[in-house]
Amino acid sequence: MRSEPTMTSLNVDLGDRSYAVEIGNGLIETAGARIKAVVPSSQVFVITDENVAASWLAPLQKSLDHHGIKHATKIFPPGEQTKSIRCIDELTAWLLDQGIDRKTTLVALGGGVIGDLTGFAAAITLRGVPFIQIPTTLLAQVDSSVGGKTGIDTPQGKNLIGAFHQPLLVLADTDTLNTLPRRQVLAGYAEVVKYGMISDPAFFDWCEMNAQALVDGDAEARRYAIEQSCRAKAEIVADDEREAGRRALLNLGHTFAHAFEAEAGYSDKLLHGEAVAFGCLCAFELSHRLELCTGQDVVRVARHLEGIGLPTSVKNIAEPHWTPELIIGHMSKDKKTESGQLTFVLARAIGEAFTTRDVPADLLNALVADMMAR
Ligand code: NAD
Ligand code: GLY
Repeated sequence: MRSEPTMTSLNVDLGDRSYAVEIGNGLIETAGARIKAVVPSSQVFVITDENVAASWLAPLQKSLDHHGIKHATKIFPPGEQTKSIRCIDELTAWLLDQGIDRKTTLVALGGGVIGDLTGFAAAITLRGVPFIQIPTTLLAQVDSSVGGKTGIDTPQGKNLIGAFHQPLLVLADTDTLNTLPRRQVLAGYAEVVKYGMISDPAFFDWCEMNAQALVDGDAEARRYAIEQSCRAKAEIVADDEREAGRRALLNLGHTFAHAFEAEAGYSDKLLHGEAVAFGCLCAFELSHRLELCTGQDVVRVARHLEGIGLPTSVKNIAEPHWTPELIIGHMSKDKKTESGQLTFVLARAIGEAFTTRDVPADLLNALVADMMAR
């Protein structure tokens, strides 16, 4: 029998820019009241994509109407291609044509693509307007909607143009996950278990026990996972908003992930969360080769990811021109590179991640070659 979820409210503590992350079911139906309580004027613009609009736009609009909030909506095509210069151009032009002023609030209703695009538009339009996140994918509910990283992709790489701009409020409605395709739920789960691998071995244990229920639709397992993830992220963001240090731990697996995603063309061939799962395994294997963590830790990570259905190999999607040199070339363009040196997030154990620049090039080359062949 599936359990009923409870409601949770967390605070991201950033002084006068602090905000609440509310997690639970039915939040879109009641969003009007929650939004009215935080916005500086009763006009909002809702930004969403076609897939999300089909199920979740009408209940949001109804709730806004019910609370006397004026609104207009801009709908984009779904997919990573929407996080582009072309769409930010289109969105900012639309906002200006609609007569946006500095008290108008943007509402991002969607996954990480809509959240990152809307947040960036909010950061740059009129030099900054407020925005609210209503994340509708598991990935967005546990990661991208919290913490204020916003941005778009360019032909040079992912998220290379952007700004830090914190939302006024995050409403993570667990009901939205009921219309999310299973593959997207799984991809989002990779960002959940990542928090266990970074700093919370007990949460990794919980994930081993409960991941299947979560993926299969257990609402309370989902709410608990979102709460633990947002709690961990809120604590790190409050401590290191601009990623001067500790926040970089959240990039566990991401330097590898972005390199493989780039070669896969940021497409359905390899979703971001799938790439993160494989990237986390690469990070643990590298840690083991550097004699930092045990082989048992690597086996445990691989077994869990594989067991739940996340990729622990890229062999079936690799193309003949994919070489370790090509992948390492992408890695060296990562925005965390300083003076040509890459920053790695490695681990001394599950739940003990740390950052280092100290990885010998030959060891990295061998690791990437072996991981691509597994
Ligand atoms: P996404 O926004 O593309 O959503 C995935 C797919 O699910 C899309 O087709 C979308 O239309 C559909 N969808 C969304 N919600 C739905 C729902 N409730 N029901 C049915 N379909 C739904 O992808 P994502 O995985 O949410 O986000 C990935 C993006 O997030 C990447 O661009 C990544 O770089 C970014 N990201 C940003 C941060 C950050 O801190 N800002 C962190 C992690 C990832
Ligand atoms: N997703 C990584 C971060 O927000 O820092």
